[in-house]
Parts: sequence; C-alpha cells; structure tokens
Amino acid sequence: MAESLSFSRAADRGTVYDEILPQIAALVEGEADVVANLANIAAVLKQAFGFFWVGFYLAKESELVLGPFQGPLACTRIKFGQGVCGHAYSTRETIIVPNVDEFPGHIACASESRSEIVVPIIKDDRCVGVLDVDSDRLDDFSQVDSDGLARIVRIVEGFVE
Ligand code: SME
Repeated sequence: MAESLSFSRAADRGTVYDEILPQIAALVEGEADVVANLANIAAVLKQAFGFFWVGFYLAKESELVLGPFQGPLACTRIKFGQGVCGHAYSTRETIIVPNVDEFPGHIACASESRSEIVVPIIKDDRCVGVLDVDSDRLDDFSQVDSDGLARIVRIVEGFVE
C-alpha cells in the first residue's frame, strides 16, 4: 500500500487529478474495508487540493448519513431530496453550485462554505451515496472537477456496498 502521496504542487487541477487517480486506485486495491478506503480517499483529496471540506454521505434507510470526511464538523443526516447532497442523490446527477447562497435549500454546515460540488455514487443501478466537496471560495468548481471527481467515484463504485 502506498504510504505517501505524490503530486505537483504548482500544477493545474486537471494535472493533479491525473496524478492522484492511479495512486487512489493503488491505495484501495486489495483493501476490502469500505470505511478505510473512503477515509483515505477523503484524505488524498484534502491533501492534494486543500479543499475546505471533502467527504462522503452514504444512503441509509431514508437519509444520507455522514461518512468519512476531512474538514470542519458537518451535518450528520440529510434527507433524500434535501440540500445539494440530497438533490444530487435524488437526481443521480453531479451538481456544481457556484454560490451556495443561491441554491434553494442549501444546507449550511459551515458558514465559510461558498461553493460546492456533489457527485452521486451509483452501484448496481442504486444511488448508494454522494461525494461532497465544499470550497470557501465562490465559483471554485468547474468541469475539470466534475470529470476528475467522477473518475474517483468510479473507483469508489468498485468497492462500495
Ligand atoms: N451543503 C450540503 C450539506 C453537507 S455539508 O456541505 C458538508 C448540502 O446542502 O447538502
């Protein structure tokens, strides 16, 4: 298992996604524990990009429940359809929110959060959770993040239950 992360500090985000993707694949290869793998993926994303908050919410009964994350403490439970996370869960589509104050129903776990991206995790045609990333800067996410995070979520879909 890899014990350190290697990436170009001055590079654009697309390059960094390219660099960390094989390292994430190697990190989870041969490890069956879902929590351990999600925790390390959140840590890699925090370390590589310095995101304000990055983590997973997992579907349990009628709610999304907080999973492994990096950043300030966060809301524990989000109902399906509520907030940016619940909306991505219900529509099964990635959402980029350039300004969280303009998203109706946005759930503010931290007042510093300004923009957000949420990517649904689909396993065997079921949405099993979401990957959520928050920034303390307005309009911080683009198609580069949508594509990069989608590639990471494809890896998650390979081991999540
Ligand atoms: N803002 C999210 C809630 C989760 S926190 O950002 C960590 C939402 O509206 O669903």
